[in-house]
Amino acid sequence: SGPSLAVVGVTGAVGQEFLSVLSDRDFPYRSIKMLASKRSAGKEFSFQDKTYTIEELTENSFDDVDIALFSAGGSISKKYGPIAVDKGTVVVDNSSAFRMVENVPLVIPEVNPEAMSGIKLGTGKGALIANPNCSTIICLMAATPLHRRAKVTRMVVSTYQAASGAGAAAMEELELQTREVLEGKPPTCNIFNQQYAFNLFSHNAPIVSNGYNEEEMKLVKETRKIWNDKDVRVTATCIRVPVMRAHAESVNLQFENPLDEETAKNILSNAPGVVVIDDRASNHFPTPLEVSNKDDVAVGRIRRDVSQDGNYGLDIFVCGDQIRKGAALNAIQIAEMLL
Ligand code: A2P
Repeated sequence: SGPSLAVVGVTGAVGQEFLSVLSDRDFPYRSIKMLASKRSAGKEFSFQDKTYTIEELTENSFDDVDIALFSAGGSISKKYGPIAVDKGTVVVDNSSAFRMVENVPLVIPEVNPEAMSGIKLGTGKGALIANPNCSTIICLMAATPLHRRAKVTRMVVSTYQAASGAGAAAMEELELQTREVLEGKPPTCNIFNQQYAFNLFSHNAPIVSNGYNEEEMKLVKETRKIWNDKDVRVTATCIRVPVMRAHAESVNLQFENPLDEETAKNILSNAPGVVVIDDRASNHFPTPLEVSNKDDVAVGRIRRDVSQDGNYGLDIFVCGDQIRKGAALNAIQIAEMLL
């Protein structure tokens, strides 16, 4: 028993993680449709002791699907999301296609579960729910508990983003390039058009008219929507680093009300989905490797911002698994709230 599910983009990095998370969390379901492109259709694989055949995503894929988890890119979501909704399916979409659409809830379950309170299963009515950008989720998991206490008025984010955000092919290319460089060969640059191994570069998202890239503007706009706060000032610089699957972010926070270091540390230690790694004596703080394949977002380097008077500013360093909490886990927590 349980809902009938569909996974759209099941062969991708996030698609595969959807399955691991469903399994890890014993998510109840009566069936799962495994959907991908024509290229993958017909391939078989086993999941939870059952053999599944990948089906090609078509307009008829959503008959009798209660919940569809989408992660096949924005254009696939734009085309097939509304088709699924018309069939009565609740779509949890990992792409950016609907995030900023009014009336589409943009949800981090630990942060703003109330945004999706109007959506119910079993009413025959479909709906869209958007999963925020991975950098936004990881940042707000740490910033929100502090925001609730002292109200963030301004946030400056610098990201160190993993390959996984660009999909399974980007992860493979990072590994391949690393081997090639060590062997003295020219690196294969199909995904990013430049050397990634032993390098870092500005995020590959397109640059928009104000000079920011789209990834940076997602942090700005999505934070305002998720916090339901049009006035919060956010700026970001997003960088790709040669790390496989977890993002790191330096976050500077400015508050309306005072918040000292110790109180902030206590708040974060008690925040759901957050773990504090902040051992100054042994210089041990969060790393991407330490949070890889983990559910929790790790926070450390919690310290008073010396550039601001009093206790009105804090610096923190956050790491989170981009494929898990940044994508698949967050989407499945959303689906759990529908049950
Ligand atoms: P496929 O493997 O059949 O191409 P990633 O984010 O890791 O790059 O994965 C992208 C996912 O989106 C893959 O599962 C991929 O399936 C899927 N996908 C890409 N194009 C389509 C399409 N036209 N129809 C359905 N799924 C698609």
